[in-house]
Amino acid sequence: MSEFNYHNGQLIAEQTALTKVADQVGTPCYVYSRKALETNYLAYRDALDKDSSKNHLACYAVKANSNLGVLSVLAKLGSGFDIVSVGELERVLLAGGDPAKVVFSGVAKTAVEIARALEIGVHCFNIESETELDRIAEIAAAKNCIASISIRVNPDVDAQTHPYISTGLKENKFGIDIDEALRVYQYANSLPSIRIIGIDCHIGSQLTSLEPFNDALERVLELVDVLSANGIELAHIDVGGGLGVCYQDEQPPSPGDYVASLLATLADRPQSLIMEPGRSIAANAGILLTRVDTIKRNPQKHFAIVDAAMNDMIRPALYGAWMDILPVVESAKEPTSESAERQSQNYDVVGPVCETGDFLGKDRTLAIAENDLLAVCSSGAYGFVMASNYNSRGRAAEVMVDGDQFHIVRQRETLEDLVRGEKTI
Ligand code: LLP
Repeated sequence: MSEFNYHNGQLIAEQTALTKVADQVGTPCYVYSRKALETNYLAYRDALDKDSSKNHLACYAVKANSNLGVLSVLAKLGSGFDIVSVGELERVLLAGGDPAKVVFSGVAKTAVEIARALEIGVHCFNIESETELDRIAEIAAAKNCIASISIRVNPDVDAQTHPYISTGLKENKFGIDIDEALRVYQYANSLPSIRIIGIDCHIGSQLTSLEPFNDALERVLELVDVLSANGIELAHIDVGGGLGVCYQDEQPPSPGDYVASLLATLADRPQSLIMEPGRSIAANAGILLTRVDTIKRNPQKHFAIVDAAMNDMIRPALYGAWMDILPVVESAKEPTSESAERQSQNYDVVGPVCETGDFLGKDRTLAIAENDLLAVCSSGAYGFVMASNYNSRGRAAEVMVDGDQFHIVRQRETLEDLVRGEKTI
């Protein structure tokens, strides 16, 4: 979390105090750092640029954080985008992204989504089934155009991550079985409205070692050779996303090291490299700012009930994910009368939602009191995008810090927002 640091005992984002954001915007509130997003994206781009012989592209996976402010920061750097719905496509366009640098992933694209993507001219459809291939071919033919495609293969590799975010095993719904892929490529090759340009795979998320990536790539490259022997030459290899970040004590490879290893493996091949990183760009560029509402003690436990809940950040409830929780103002080293009440205690940090699964962190040692601000770290990816209105809670505000300034890039939802489109009968 390089752009979130303590300065004079206060957590700041770049040069902006989080206490100031909380005062002006309220809590709960997601806070992102522009500088961190840029640094994280450039780590990929600079590493890819080291091989100047080809046009490699990092396509940010929009699903990780699709806020227009975030997308516009990346679009200004010339980022490509990996999308999974027409909603994400429209967001990319609104943020100034270049459609020619968009790859369209997603398990089952609808006719409406395909038509819009063809109209706007995305770079490539990543095909997940033969039904989808036929659907795209038909729509392209009706529009008198040619759709560029890649086939997402499922390489049957264990990503060694949480089962809910593992996607590259035969038992998962994703992609086309790698053993079926030659036949599907040959079929695609026979369709006049289809142009084959690539191959892709994505085996899972929050991977902390290169081994599963290497195993998957090896299998993909074997297929690339078989395709070539069958007269099907590809222009790109898309390795998907999945590189993990440090939430607690994980030590994932850096994007630079990962890219260097990919480039070394692909050095003698004519294909360019496409990547779809999401988490490794956005996670550590954001925190969730929340205020302690109530400290509650029962004989077994101390609870810090905060104003953010599972509807704001579902990762701990859904995946048992561990996210660091820091006090925004460090308690004084020398106890004053005020800090005396902030003795270190073991807390479950929970939200006010009516579910036992509503927690942000368990067994955390914190010296806190009611009204204190806390930061849930590494919340920039799969945070706000997975938020809901459960318990009729309006979704949080989102803020983008830029040096000593900040912008509200999404207003907090109001009661009006909550009931929009509903009516009594
Ligand atoms: N490409 C495809 C086709 C994907 O399905 C995904 C993520 C990515 C790229 C980006 O992967 P990343 O670099 O972010 O790992 N909600 C879960 C993560 C779900 C990831 C889904 N697919 C979480 O909070 O851990």
